[in-house]
Amino acid sequence: MGNSDQGKSFFNNVPLAPPDPIFHLTASYEKDTTPKRINLGVGAYRDDMGQPWVLPVVRKARQLLLEDPALTHEYLPIAGLPALRDASIRLILGKDSPAIREKRTIAIQTISGTGANTLGAAFLAQFHPVRTVLVSNPTWVNHKGIFGNAGFDVKEYTYFDSKTLGLDLEGMLSSLNSAPEGSVIILHACAHNPTGVDPTQEQWIKIADVMEAKGHFPLFDCAYQGFASGDLDKDAWAVRYFVHDRKLECFIAQSYAKNFGLYGERCGALTVVTQTSDLADRCLSQLSKIARVNYSNPPAFGARIVSRVLNDPELYTTWTNDLRTMSGRIIQMRTLLREHLIKLGTPGNWDHITRQIGMFSFTGLKPAQVSLLQSKYHIYMTSNGRVSMAGLNTNNVEYMAKAVDDVVRSTE
Ligand SMILES: Cc1ncc(COP(=O)(O)O)c(C=O)c1O
Repeated sequence: MGNSDQGKSFFNNVPLAPPDPIFHLTASYEKDTTPKRINLGVGAYRDDMGQPWVLPVVRKARQLLLEDPALTHEYLPIAGLPALRDASIRLILGKDSPAIREKRTIAIQTISGTGANTLGAAFLAQFHPVRTVLVSNPTWVNHKGIFGNAGFDVKEYTYFDSKTLGLDLEGMLSSLNSAPEGSVIILHACAHNPTGVDPTQEQWIKIADVMEAKGHFPLFDCAYQGFASGDLDKDAWAVRYFVHDRKLECFIAQSYAKNFGLYGERCGALTVVTQTSDLADRCLSQLSKIARVNYSNPPAFGARIVSRVLNDPELYTTWTNDLRTMSGRIIQMRTLLREHLIKLGTPGNWDHITRQIGMFSFTGLKPAQVSLLQSKYHIYMTSNGRVSMAGLNTNNVEYMAKAVDDVVRSTE
């Protein structure tokens, strides 16, 4: 069809969608040729040279796979690699989990954490009696889109206190209390994105009280296990408390993008905890049915790497060391950034930078300051002032602090 016939095309009904904010930011950064440029937008780990890091344990497992003459490229089963699914449940619930012993839990392999959320949303849209979902304000950009697309009425619960740059617990409990009985509530298992603010254990107990009293259904989004504190068990505390101490049913969307550095391999799992083993089996059958019509079966290579590591004690130990390397470097960047800002006497209090946890820090910088950081200093971050700490390193953290100092003073 020539251009003159364009008027007849049904594509004329297709409006241009806005670009994704994070991927768009990365594209702008890629176009910037200034050597000093810094990308603090995308949530991907970088080493101290600012380069992507292939975890040593991933290199090892990958090599073992490639040397295995039995390796084929056949389809995986619809629900994914069985050894990965079992290991994913043990990873999040702990190997001595009573829920595992009682066979009240299943997992299905997913297209990373996004796919785990999407599959969970599709299942809940079909079977959950209440079509209201509450996400934290703010939350990971994709939550609203995923649940909105699945037909949910998406609402927010109060989470972040912009005065203290910490958790507004009272606000959160009150939002959860006033939501319709039996709503679906998306909770970030650890390393809340975008704020880096997690509830304490005492606060999680209060959150569980309301969840239980209101009959809400928890979907834990767990994209950063082991990456937040460097300790896999510590980062799973909230989930385990809900499942073991409170005996609550839940979904857990797990991603291996960050904690294995396998961003592009798209490996994750959706773990389901129910009251009985019969219910768990029924859930797996329905989740498999949804997976079959959407993508048939999940990608194999990343899953084989993760499964190999999770099921081999020696590789598992190497992995825990790699996790400590990543989380340790990020914690060091938090300390250095705060120290530089204090040394410069930058107006404001910067304690939240070291109080917050995980990949991100919600700096409190305003959109005008963010925009100035980009135009004057070639430092790229989302307009809400969220910084991916992994983009900082010993070569650029002082430059960043000086730039922040300048924009804060000049916009005061
Ligand atoms: C809170 C949260 N959930 C889920 C994801 C999913 O990521 P992926 O699909 O790459 O595993 C992310 C990634 O940024 C995230 O921050």
